[in-house]
Amino acid sequence: MGDRLAGKVALVTGAASGIGAACAARFAEEGAVVAGLDLAAPPDGSPTTGWWTVDVRDEAAIERAVAEIVDQLGRIDVLVNAAGVLSIGAADTMEREEWDRVLGVNLTGTWLVSKHVVRRMAERHAGSIVNLASIEGLIGFSGQTAYNVSKGGVVLLTRNMATDFGPAGVRVNCLCPGLIDTPLTAILRDPAFARVRDRFVEWHLLGRAGQPEEVAAAALFLASDDASFVHGTALTVDGGLTAGRRFLNPGEEL
Ligand SMILES: NC(=O)c1ccc[n+]([C@@H]2O[C@H](COP(=O)([O-])OP(=O)(O)OC[C@H]3O[C@@H](n4cnc5c(N)ncnc54)[C@H](O)[C@@H]3O)[C@@H](O)[C@H]2O)c1
Repeated sequence: MGDRLAGKVALVTGAASGIGAACAARFAEEGAVVAGLDLAAPPDGSPTTGWWTVDVRDEAAIERAVAEIVDQLGRIDVLVNAAGVLSIGAADTMEREEWDRVLGVNLTGTWLVSKHVVRRMAERHAGSIVNLASIEGLIGFSGQTAYNVSKGGVVLLTRNMATDFGPAGVRVNCLCPGLIDTPLTAILRDPAFARVRDRFVEWHLLGRAGQPEEVAAAALFLASDDASFVHGTALTVDGGLTAGRRFLNPGEEL
């Protein structure tokens, strides 16, 4: 498609599915050598050059994987943290194990992979980290306490690492997508969730859910030198959901 990542090595976590898979595909099309990391095996036709089957909560395994990637591919120029899990449950009913699982993957996992990659980026005084946060990192959504909190943490992890590693030449940003049609959100296709999905879609001012390729396009921007002065930002990719509210939907009258 282009050459916006020509000569770059990118590590994408969560590369087996959804947004991570779309990032791996788009980055490869743009000339990057892509290392995939996921709990799951690589999907058929994955454009990745190497694959590491790792749980992002396992620090020793991450440290080994990052060392192997650097040995095999030379360096890591771009990191996309897209591994993540969804969770439903309000603060008064959620079990402790679920809180630990969701915070563990979404927040601790993002930190752990970043920890072992950013050191190497800082040594070279170059690199771009793109975290998958969410609109749920910016505003509250009912009934999803652990997910909401984990994504708020990712936004602040992004801003915190921006302060520490900007001077070392590493840019750190995050994306805040709205509802994106991926396996993560397939549960909303269940008829039991029809009203929730309809309402959620309606909140997007563009009147539809997004596609993983639309998030990958924004990740490409943040990863590439086109974003050379973009640092510490939380970029919404949400069809306008967080921009404002309409009093009347198209076609409705007072
Ligand atoms: N889909 C959406 O509507 C949406 C919206 C905003 C943010 N996000 C975020 O984007 C990211 C990607 O979501 P998606 O929709 O592509 O989800 P997805 O379920 O399609 O893909 C997530 C991937 O993460 C992997 N994964 C899960 N736990 C892991 C672990 N412990 N270690 C390693 N890999 C693990 C899964 O195997 C899967 O391949 C997530 O962080 C998600 O929270 C998604």
